[in-house]
Amino acid sequence: MAAIHILGIESSCDDTSAAVIRDGVLLSNVMAGQEVHRNYGGVVPELASRAHQQHIVPVVDQALKQSGVNKKDISAIAFTQGPGLLGSLMVGSAFAKGLALSLGIPLIAVNHLMAHVLALFLREPGEKKNVPGFPYLCLLVSGGHTQIMQVEDYLRMTTLGRTIDDAAGEAFDKCAKVMGLPYPGGPVIDKLAETGDPERFAFARPKIAGLDFSFSGLKTSFLYFLRDALKEDPGFIEKNRNDLAASLQKVIVSVLMEKIGHASRETGIREIGIAGGVAANSDLQKSLKEAAVGKSWHIHIPHARYTTDNAAMVAITGYYKFLAGDLSSQDVIPMARMPL
Ligand code: KG4
Ligand code: ZN
Repeated sequence: MAAIHILGIESSCDDTSAAVIRDGVLLSNVMAGQEVHRNYGGVVPELASRAHQQHIVPVVDQALKQSGVNKKDISAIAFTQGPGLLGSLMVGSAFAKGLALSLGIPLIAVNHLMAHVLALFLREPGEKKNVPGFPYLCLLVSGGHTQIMQVEDYLRMTTLGRTIDDAAGEAFDKCAKVMGLPYPGGPVIDKLAETGDPERFAFARPKIAGLDFSFSGLKTSFLYFLRDALKEDPGFIEKNRNDLAASLQKVIVSVLMEKIGHASRETGIREIGIAGGVAANSDLQKSLKEAAVGKSWHIHIPHARYTTDNAAMVAITGYYKFLAGDLSSQDVIPMARMPL
């Protein structure tokens, strides 16, 4: 049987990415980030759409070249249908449709959240990987989403709890912005926290029952704390940057750990994965590894390059949808909001 080649395209936010997968093995994953947003402290949708327009052709071209796969041998094109910024999604979806039409091959619409969760199945050539067994719990933590999913099978998953306001990545980014740090703040806080004292400052710990999350109170508590401290000492942030970062990170990570622990107790599932941009956080990874020993969890942490937005995760999701015959027609439209 001929190999199955899936071209994946991701353009939901501010990264343009294309990837090629052969029979479930990743051959290439090319990304173009967008520097234009740095000065704005967040993603500017209008600028993101324009940058996707600039990047999409060279990124796809590069992904095909690196994979060594001729475009005539592509079996189907998978693209991110949503959720995300509508203008950004439209660039990727229109491109995917046009290319699929011109090559006479099927189109596969992919949910971005499902793609983050299935990033745990990405394998590079020659890589032997310990992938999750079903059912598993996945803590999906990114700049736009924070939720716990119960994954029954590749394409069957339900949300057990989600944030009622800000996402965990948003909490990192917004607090970093208050500290005058560049966007995205999550990785910067992570780095600063390495040499900071996590016990130095105490911020309001969100208290939400069950498996839902809330991070907006923490952001407000952080903001008010800094406002008061700066009145006393205008150099407060400069002098305490690392301790502030470590103390903030500690609260966010402990909330995430508490909820995933709760979900495991409630469902009896001890197969646990993390996904999304915040899954790259070193303290979260360390805490998860420590918890795994005490609680006999099997844990799954994706490579850092597949935690933030990327097309490899879209391509692997497209691969499983292709195997299941779950294809889309040319009239499929991108959706800014798109539940699983
Ligand atoms: O998954 P992603 O690339 O985009 C969304 O779908 O939202 O996640 C981006 C988020 C940003 O909020 C960023 O600050 C956060 O992931 N992030 C981190 C780290 N690396 C990325 N947060 C904490 N620690 C990190 N090391
Ligand atoms: Zn994402």
